Amino acid sequence: MNKDFLAVSDLSVYEFNRILELGSGVKAKPRRFRRALEGKILAMIFEKPSLRTRMTFEVGMLQLGGEAVYLSPNDIQMGKRETPADIGRNLERWTDGIMIRTFAHAIAVELAAAVRIPVINALTDLLHPCQAMADFLTLKEKKGDLAALKLAYVGDGNNVCHSLINAAAKAGTKMAVAAPKGYEPSAAIVSAAREAGRETGFILDVVRDPAEAVSGADAVYTDVWASMGQESEKQKRARLFARYQVRAALMAKAAPGALFMHCLPAHRGEEVASEVLDSPASVVFDQAENRLHVQKAIMLILMGKKF
Ligand code: CP
Ligand code: NVA
Repeated sequence: MNKDFLAVSDLSVYEFNRILELGSGVKAKPRRFRRALEGKILAMIFEKPSLRTRMTFEVGMLQLGGEAVYLSPNDIQMGKRETPADIGRNLERWTDGIMIRTFAHAIAVELAAAVRIPVINALTDLLHPCQAMADFLTLKEKKGDLAALKLAYVGDGNNVCHSLINAAAKAGTKMAVAAPKGYEPSAAIVSAAREAGRETGFILDVVRDPAEAVSGADAVYTDVWASMGQESEKQKRARLFARYQVRAALMAKAAPGALFMHCLPAHRGEEVASEVLDSPASVVFDQAENRLHVQKAIMLILMGKKF
């Protein structure tokens, strides 16, 4: 595998499945791995807020016998006090891996290129690959054969949507995205995923109508309308995205037994109605739990002995 985990699209199909399998293994027998990263230290750079990512990386390192050090936006002031590359050249002298949550994806790429230790993308404006790995582990647990499923994504064609597309291409999961005009997923990511997905039978439809996207879907996924860093667009987006809210009536158009998925945090009454978020179809906390297991697998592969 590459030194870093910056994008699901960088993985081979084998590596993608390997992470899911090891994630399941770590989940089933966590004690087997409790000293696997003994003595290792992960630096965690956060330029945006977090609950799940902060907790799952830190708890994950502790459960693997290692430690994690949290660096807040105020500590580092990326790009203001130092360049991402210079920050990395310092961190690699003291730590064994770096996790970064930042704005421009180019910052994570610059950091990774500057250091010899692994760099893990914990969300950029472009991608959220750890989230997609946890989501596909959840889908596999709940629904089985990923290549036999259809995943519908309703809402903003954002970082989470991009990483789900990349993961679906690796898994051969059929996908439909419904987004308002101007908020579709990146054309470059869509075309690269279609190309990469030829070997797995991946099909992706990008449509306008949420009902069309969810028709026959085994899971319906949504995310916030205004991502971190887009707070000033919140009101404009709320108007444009109003018909993309996931309500019970929309879920009823999906396949019987369809799951509801969300990376969280959810904005109740905006992208999702509480009637759906709190329904038996909702697996949002299973997704949150699986962040822990799948990221432990990623850290084991990148920072540990060979498995
Ligand atoms: N889903 C997710 O990444 O959550 P946090 O922003 O709380 O880390
Ligand atoms: N798209 C959201 C995901 C949060 C986990 C954001 O970037 O803010």
